[in-house]
Amino acid sequence: MVPLLLLPLLWGGSLQEDPGYELRVQDLVMVQEGLCVQVPCSFSYPWSSWSPPGMPYMNWFRVGDSSYRRYPVATNDPTKRVKTETQGRFLLVGNSRDNNCSLRIREARRSDQGAYEFQVDTGDYRKYTYEDKRLTLQVTALTQKPDIHFLEPLKSGHPTNLTCSLPGSCEEGRSLAFFSWVGGALDSLDPGTLRSSVLTLTPRPRDHGSNLTCQVQLSGTQGTVERTIRLNVSYAPQNLTISNCSDVAALGTLQNTSSILIREGQALRLRCDADSNPPAELSWFRGSPALNATPICKSPILDLPQVGAEEEGDLTCQAQNWLGFQHISLHLSVLYAPRLLPPSCSWEGEGLHCHCSSRAQPAPTLRWRLGEGLLEGNHSNASWTVTSSSAGPWANSSLSLSGPLDSSLRLSCEARNAHWSQSAAVLLLPGKCAFPAGAVPAALGGAGAMALVSLTLCLLFFCMVPGKSPGQTAPRLRRPLRGTPLPQGSNRSSITPPSAFRR
Ligand SMILES: *[C@@H]1O[C@H](CO)[C@@H](O)[C@H](O)[C@H]1NC(C)=O
Ligand SMILES: *[C@@H]1O[C@H](CO)[C@@H](O)[C@H](O)[C@H]1NC(C)=O
Ligand SMILES: *[C@@H]1O[C@H](CO)[C@@H](O)[C@H](O)[C@H]1NC(C)=O
Ligand SMILES: *[C@@H]1O[C@H](CO)[C@@H](O)[C@H](O)[C@H]1NC(C)=O
Ligand SMILES: *[C@@H]1O[C@H](CO)[C@@H](O)[C@H](O)[C@H]1NC(C)=O
Ligand SMILES: *[C@@H]1O[C@H](CO)[C@@H](O)[C@H](O)[C@H]1NC(C)=O
Ligand SMILES: *[C@@H]1O[C@H](CO)[C@@H](O)[C@H](O)[C@H]1NC(C)=O
Ligand SMILES: *[C@@H]1O[C@H](CO)[C@@H](O)[C@H](O)[C@H]1NC(C)=O
Ligand SMILES: *[C@@H]1O[C@H](CO)[C@@H](O)[C@H](O)[C@H]1NC(C)=O
Ligand SMILES: *[C@@H]1O[C@H](CO)[C@@H](O)[C@H](O)[C@H]1NC(C)=O
Repeated sequence: MVPLLLLPLLWGGSLQEDPGYELRVQDLVMVQEGLCVQVPCSFSYPWSSWSPPGMPYMNWFRVGDSSYRRYPVATNDPTKRVKTETQGRFLLVGNSRDNNCSLRIREARRSDQGAYEFQVDTGDYRKYTYEDKRLTLQVTALTQKPDIHFLEPLKSGHPTNLTCSLPGSCEEGRSLAFFSWVGGALDSLDPGTLRSSVLTLTPRPRDHGSNLTCQVQLSGTQGTVERTIRLNVSYAPQNLTISNCSDVAALGTLQNTSSILIREGQALRLRCDADSNPPAELSWFRGSPALNATPICKSPILDLPQVGAEEEGDLTCQAQNWLGFQHISLHLSVLYAPRLLPPSCSWEGEGLHCHCSSRAQPAPTLRWRLGEGLLEGNHSNASWTVTSSSAGPWANSSLSLSGPLDSSLRLSCEARNAHWSQSAAVLLLPGKCAFPAGAVPAALGGAGAMALVSLTLCLLFFCMVPGKSPGQTAPRLRRPLRGTPLPQGSNRSSITPPSAFRR
């Protein structure tokens, strides 16, 4: 039955000049040990009038081994057995109807290295081997590094999936890659989860800058390949600190909500630092920053060359990046000398009422000097009553005098605090309206570096300003104050110091 003419083909004899037979495949294919490769291939053969279903069969043989041409390494012929070494690893993925002889090689082994040739079996004992076009497979050592993929950026506190993959490894079928993750960021993770190609990591700020390694070992190969990345973890500002820049030692930082004391007129230089990634924008506010508050300074360093008494209050540093913000505040207490409001006096009924107010830091105490006598705190007897109160930096005191008053009575109000003292005097001098000029500073003596300064601000000569109803109060003042009752309706007149003494 077999025509003799076909015998050379039956023996697989290759005839370079065979018309119509052509194989298109690359000469050399390199693959790393353990990896996968697909070799594109197509072939043509002379047209045959009859071909059973499923035909032609395609076979790939390994050149030169003992079972050469007996067992293919890959075939689509269901009646043929393939070599056990390549079974399941060398796969014909092309369709013979499309003349597609593409070959897929999985988990390449060093022993796969060699030459391969392709044979087409069109039935009727007609087989043709393309001997003049061989495929050489070279298997090299595994050097391919794995890749680590994840959605950037890594945000502190947000679970993120990191996927480790080895490019070129075979995705389908059995999992023949063994993964392991190593890194400081994994200390709190269940070790069991570190054996998967996908790692779910919830990074912490302290993981920023740490190394994370994915190691891959492929079955049937020696050694592992690995990839190390440096984690870039974004986190909101934390660990805000304020330090005193004038402090050359710059060791101590100031506690949140602590108070700092500074004398009026002195310089203050504060520095705010925050730990954050990306770096935070630092700004300073007075008080606590409300929404849309305007910062007094948009830099880490706050420079107040001369602190004024009115700057007393909270200073807040805010650190902000796109992940959030944090605040830290200090209370600035400014020490300043007593500010004495000019005392005011008025007649009420038979008595003289005087009021004195002062503000200072620390809060001042007030006392009245009446002739030779000193009146402090709360005091009361038949001829005078002193009521003092204080709140915050203020101290207020009122003095009520009744009964006969000396015509040359000298009355003054004095304010003092731990560092300074000041007095303002009211002199009751009937018949005259004059005042001596001059402030008299004098050292009171002090403790430590704090100089105590006594400042007799001004001596105010007390003089009645004729009011809306002249002739009622003014004449009475020109007489010695004897406590004569005042007529109804004019029982109060305010006595103001000359404006030249207002400060
Ligand atoms: C041959 O088959 C493979 C696997 O199905 C396919 O990827 C490739 O594109 C085919 N080649 C051609 C030329 O059609
Ligand atoms: C991580 O992947 C797992 C499945 O692999 C999924 O269930 C989970 O939602 C993913 N987590 C995130 C944060 O994407
Ligand atoms: C992180 O890895 C790099 C190299 O990948 C190495 O030079 C560096 O020392 C490692 N850092 C730490 C903290 O292990
Ligand atoms: C870290 O990530 C931030 C984005 O969150 C980016 O701006 C920055 O350049 C990254 N740093 C490094 C060293 O890659
Ligand atoms: C920074 O703050 C975090 C929590 O806010 C804390 O766990 C960590 O110890 C702080 N680091 C330093 C150096 O103070
Ligand atoms: C800042 O440091 C300087 C120098 O040590 C010190 O004199 C000053 O009192 C400090 N200021 C505050 C507000 O602590
Ligand atoms: C400082 O204290 C305030 C109020 O208690 C708080 O809101 C803020 O977070 C604190 N800041 C720091 C850095 O601890
Ligand atoms: C004086 O008395 C008033 C109430 O009459 C009181 O509020 C104030 O604290 C007292 N002042 C002193 C110094 O005792
Ligand atoms: C009121 O007290 C002061 C001193 O405490 C004293 O000098 C004065 O005489 C007293 N006046 C009367 C009327 O008791
Ligand atoms: C003291 O007087 C000042 C100015 O008149 C006033 O603002 C303050 O509230 C007064 N304080 C007290 C405790 O009476």
